[in-house]
Amino acid sequence: MEKIQIEQDIFEVMISAEEIQNRVAELSTQLYNDYKDKTPVFIGILNGSFMFMGDLVKDYPGDCEVDFLKLSSYGDEKISSGKVKLQKELTCDVTGRDLIIVEDIVDSGLSIKFMEELIEHHHPASVSVVTLLMKPNSLKYNVKIDYIGFTIPGRFVIGYGLDYKQRYRNLPAIYALEEK
Ligand code: IMP
Ligand code: MG
Repeated sequence: MEKIQIEQDIFEVMISAEEIQNRVAELSTQLYNDYKDKTPVFIGILNGSFMFMGDLVKDYPGDCEVDFLKLSSYGDEKISSGKVKLQKELTCDVTGRDLIIVEDIVDSGLSIKFMEELIEHHHPASVSVVTLLMKPNSLKYNVKIDYIGFTIPGRFVIGYGLDYKQRYRNLPAIYALEEK
């Protein structure tokens, strides 16, 4: 399935399922090299990161813990609302722990900025951020992303966890809105 039509829009494959799997395995290895002496807590930001998180920890060969929190910023639109809401808190105690925040995509950076401020209150030992995708040209906030899967142009993307109106998260590849 190279192209899909959604309403008036055509989406084309930007990153294949195979390319994603290979890159995720590389990221897991890189994380293991950096965290093998620790037991990090992977913190996935729901909903977008669920698939990336699953593959990332499946490939991670060391000891780790997993937790999730839920943020919302986009509503059902293709552009961010500019506001972030916490919809589900963490369940584990992250005080003194080494945290790896797992994000599907960094766009303006607002969600990561919000996360960093939220997590700071819990006094972790360390915090790093891994994102599958990054749109550097859209960045508006000063955030440091430690591990990046793919740097992409500022096009709206779906698949592999990423949605449009809550749909298409189940696609195994990343599709981008075709430029008109
Ligand atoms: P930011 O807060 O502007 O960095 O946006 C981050 C969040 O917006 C991501 O976690 C996604 O859930 C969502 N998002 C950003 N860009 C896209 C996109 O192209 N497709 C789908 N969701 C996106
Ligand atoms: Mg997200």
